[in-house]
Amino acid sequence: MRILCVCLGNICRSPMAEGLFCAHVRAAGLDWQIDSAGTGGWHAGNPPDPRGVSAAAARGVDTSGQRARQVQTSDFTDFDLILAMDRSNLADLQTMRPAHATAVLAMFDPTGADVPDPYYGGPEGFDTVLDQIQAACKSRIIALKDGDPITLSPR
Ligand code: 4NP
Repeated sequence: MRILCVCLGNICRSPMAEGLFCAHVRAAGLDWQIDSAGTGGWHAGNPPDPRGVSAAAARGVDTSGQRARQVQTSDFTDFDLILAMDRSNLADLQTMRPAHATAVLAMFDPTGADVPDPYYGGPEGFDTVLDQIQAACKSRIIALKDGDPITLSPR
């Protein structure tokens, strides 16, 4: 299973999602590939936001070595599942999606809820977002391990 987590800048939400997803996948003994990217390229090459790095570190997850990158066309065939943090990210991915794409696009949170952008708020916003990300990772792993079809996948 190859999963790409996508937000706007790839410095706040999706790096935390990549870190938490990786940790939970490893803890479950699964050999899945997890990566993250942004629909925008403004922060390409930059490390994650330090507020997010601290919030993840408080949960034992090190995201400091990640570097932002923009979603590229090959992602739509290199990954099985591309998970958007909010509806705006999903709409952008649907626009970027090439005709030969094989990846399924879906919301990151299996309830369909947006993972809100904590960029313009205080550091506590990152922890709240991490609660949502952590719960979403756990339920996604359980569902994918059981072979459930991905139902939230507008194509
Ligand atoms: P992210 O948050 O999409 O969760 O990485 C943002 C980071 C930067 C910007 C917007 C959102 N920005 O406008 O620079």
